[in-house]
Amino acid sequence: MSLTNRLLMRGIRKEYPGVCALDGVDFEVAFGEVHALLGVNGAGKSTLMSILSGATRMDEGAIFINGKKLDITSPHKAMELGISIIYQEFNLVPHLTVAENIFLGREPRKRMGFIDYREIHTGAVSLLERLGAPFSPRERVANLGVAQQQLVEIAKALFKEARIIAMDEPTATLSMKETERLFSIIRLLKAEGKGIVYISHRLEEIFEIADRVTVLRDGRLVETCSLQEVTRGKLVEMMLGRALEGAVTRREVPPGVAGPLPSKEVLRVEGLTRRGVLEDINLTVKEGEILGIAGLVGAGKTELARALYGLDPIDKGKVVIGGCPVRLQSPAEAIRRGVVLVPEDRKRLGLVLGMAVRENISLASLFRFSRFGFVNGRRERRTAGEMVESLRVKTPGLEQQVRNLSGGNQQKVVLAKWLLRGARVLIFDEPTRGIDVGAKVEVHGLIRALADKGAAILLISSELQEVIDHSDRMVVMHGGRITGELRKEEATPERVLFLAMGGNSKQ
Ligand SMILES: Nc1ncnc2c1ncn2[C@@H]1O[C@H](COP(=O)(O)OP(=O)(O)OP(=O)(O)O)[C@@H](O)[C@H]1O
Ligand SMILES: [Mg+2]
Repeated sequence: MSLTNRLLMRGIRKEYPGVCALDGVDFEVAFGEVHALLGVNGAGKSTLMSILSGATRMDEGAIFINGKKLDITSPHKAMELGISIIYQEFNLVPHLTVAENIFLGREPRKRMGFIDYREIHTGAVSLLERLGAPFSPRERVANLGVAQQQLVEIAKALFKEARIIAMDEPTATLSMKETERLFSIIRLLKAEGKGIVYISHRLEEIFEIADRVTVLRDGRLVETCSLQEVTRGKLVEMMLGRALEGAVTRREVPPGVAGPLPSKEVLRVEGLTRRGVLEDINLTVKEGEILGIAGLVGAGKTELARALYGLDPIDKGKVVIGGCPVRLQSPAEAIRRGVVLVPEDRKRLGLVLGMAVRENISLASLFRFSRFGFVNGRRERRTAGEMVESLRVKTPGLEQQVRNLSGGNQQKVVLAKWLLRGARVLIFDEPTRGIDVGAKVEVHGLIRALADKGAAILLISSELQEVIDHSDRMVVMHGGRITGELRKEEATPERVLFLAMGGNSKQ
């Protein structure tokens, strides 16, 4: 193997108490290549990149560029060597402008040491132009959307003259159009001879953008191969160590036919309006039914979930639960009425990062394990253990702090918490974002099991296919309104997309 023209990571090992995150992994990226890094939640992808970025120290191993050994002792050092990592949670300073963020820490100076703002501005303009970014360098980062902030991160990497750019799940929160733009930027960077590492759980994306793929499993290298010589099924098998079962099992019988007839309406929403955000939302969900809410990023789906959960006030409209009109003015009120939201933003709304996996899972359900104010610790542990097992949460133990879990495993803990809590109405907002293929099947299975137990479920997702596959009926949103409702048999991808782009169902 030639050593030139590439970054090479050799025999990388990293242990945490109770977990071997990386066990002698070899990985390489050639300049001018997009190299995908694939693996189920907790496989070691982010850890490998964190070592490359100098944020985490490896226990063993070596890193080379063009055959020359690197000494990456800090993030600053990695940057000097031309390595940039774009994390899912960006490293931007919100109250500074775009230009200030790009140049932060390396501002051009005038004589006497004053910052040269003109130079900063023209430099930023040219970088943003190169990326086709549709905003001014004078804009404050806080005012930008996720996709735009990502462009600022990329501009930062370009300014630092990065030769290796790694992106950890960059499209998780992007719309289709934004993803396309990111892909054209990636192609541009590749043509300029950069080496790109691309982490994603979405296999279609990997086939579209990457040249080669490296699969990790349990901290070990499974294989590196060209995407031309591998199939989707083969990749899944490499990730899981087995073929995927049940991925295409769908419920063949419509609800109400298999279950007791007729089922009762649990949730009814009439004319719900929140000015400028939601407009005249009408929907109903029956016992045992999964109502899908489809729509592209920004359609108002999360806003609807927040309003139903009492997080945001509404201006107009009526919410009826189990036949009683309710005013949901706070999440506490919503939970009392049996409405639970499993949020998309797990760090802010779903988890206490400094607490153990066990505590996070049982927190919302402590009443179940308590008698006379005492918690039955053994029952609590057993139940939490069962949840961890059925969702395949990768953790060395129930007492591990949630902050030390991989991103996808944190998401599974949020799900475990609310699945255990049980409720009459469960709202799942992007429940499988960041979750690997194997666990996705489990999550969908659990949601279905909750419905079968009689819960009314709202399944929100920007992945149209997920909604089509896993709901009994669906509404599609665009621009804060419902643009159409489809029965399962009517929901073709074309129709859903048409409505999601703002098409009218009556056309
Ligand atoms: N700071 C830490 N302390 C303890 N364990 C850690 C720490 N960081 C990572 N781990 C563990 O190392 C393993 C690999 O985690 P990593 O974040 O690299 O996974 P990943 O492949 O990025 O997963 P995901 O797809 O869920 O993001 C996991 O078991 C994780 O719990
Ligand atoms: Mg990760």
